[in-house]
Amino acid sequence: EKEGYPHYMIKEIHEQPRAINRTISPRIKDSLPYFGDDNIPDSFFEDCSDITIIACGTAMYAGMVGKTFIQNKLGIPVNVAIASEFRYERPVISDKSMVIVVSQSGETIDTLEALRLAKKYTQKTLSVVNVKGSSIARESNYVLYTHAGPEIAVASTKAYTVQVASMYLLGCKLGLVTNRLSVEDAKVFIENLTKVPEMIKTVLTQEEKVAELTKRMTNATNAFFIGRGLDYTLSMEGSLKLKEISYIHAEAYAAGELKHGTIALISDGVPVIAIATQDHVYSKVISNIREVKARGAYVTLISKDEIITDKTICDVHIHIPPVADEFTIFESVVILQMIAYYTSTGRGVNPDQPRNLAKSVTVE
Ligand code: M6R
Repeated sequence: EKEGYPHYMIKEIHEQPRAINRTISPRIKDSLPYFGDDNIPDSFFEDCSDITIIACGTAMYAGMVGKTFIQNKLGIPVNVAIASEFRYERPVISDKSMVIVVSQSGETIDTLEALRLAKKYTQKTLSVVNVKGSSIARESNYVLYTHAGPEIAVASTKAYTVQVASMYLLGCKLGLVTNRLSVEDAKVFIENLTKVPEMIKTVLTQEEKVAELTKRMTNATNAFFIGRGLDYTLSMEGSLKLKEISYIHAEAYAAGELKHGTIALISDGVPVIAIATQDHVYSKVISNIREVKARGAYVTLISKDEIITDKTICDVHIHIPPVADEFTIFESVVILQMIAYYTSTGRGVNPDQPRNLAKSVTVE
C-alpha cells in the first residue's frame, strides 16, 4: 500500500500534486470558482457580515491561511477559533455570520461540538472535510469535500494543502459574489491556483537536499520557525509537524514578535527556520533573521531568492520558484513537511505513528 515508499507520510507528501488537482478541477469553470456540483448556491455567499473558521491542529492552520487571504483581499472580518476553546466560550456570531469548519476526518469531537453550537446562531455553516459522510460533513449546512484520498499518517500533509486550496476557492467565490473581487482578478488568481500541482512537483525535486541539510536538526532540542503574514501561519504548521513526529520542542513566532521575549532563547547553534516569501514584508523578515543570526542561531532560510551568499543572513538557503505571494505557501509547506519527516526518521522515530497521538481525536 505504501507503493514503495518507506512510510505513508512521505508517500502522502508526494501525493499532493494529484490531491490538489482532484480537489480543484471539479470546482473551476471558465477560470472561475464553481460549486454547482457541491450544491452550494451563490446565495450562501451573499449578505455575510463576518466569518468564523473553526478547527483543530493542522486544519486550523489551514484556516489561518484562509483568514489571511479573505481579510487581506476582501476586507471581510475573519476570526479563527480553536474548536476546543470556541465550544466553551460565548460565540459572538449572528445569523449573518458564516461559519467554516475545517476537518480532515470530519469526526474530531471538539470541532463537531463547536459546529453544533455555531448552528444555534447561524445556518450559514459550511464544512471543508476529507472523509465522505463523516459527522461534521453530515451536520453542516453545506459541505465542500476535499479529495485528498485517505490520509493514513498521523501527521497531516496532503489534507492541509487541499484545505488551503479549498479556502482559496471559497474566498475567491465570496469575493466575486460580494463584488469585492473583479472577474479579471479572480481569473488570474484561479489560473495561479491551477499551476500549484506543477509548482509542488518542482519543489519535491529538492527532497535529497532537504534530507541532507536536515541531518543537522536531529540533535537539536529546540527549534524556532519564524515568518510574517502567510509565512507566520505556515511557521505554526511547520512547528507542529516537527513537534509531533520528531519530539523536538519547536515554537513558531511572528518574526517581529521575537524581540518581545523569545529572542532570549536564541543561543549558539539553535536552529531557526525562517520563511521569507511575502514581498511586502520581505525586508522586515530579513532584518529579524539578521538579529537571530547575530546571536548565534543556525538559520535555514526559505525564500524566492535565487541564491543568498550573505552569511550574516543564513547558513542554509532553500530556494522556492517565484510565484505570487498567496501561492508560495504551497511550495514552502512541502519543504517544512520534508524537514519534519527527515528529522523524525533521522531520530529513529516512526513518523506514521508518533507516540501519544491518534489520527482522529474523537474524545475530549
Ligand atoms: O481530522 P481533523 O482535521 O479534524 O484533525 C485535526 C487535528 O487533530 C490534526 O490536524 C492534527 O493536528 C494533525 N495530527 C497534525 O498533523
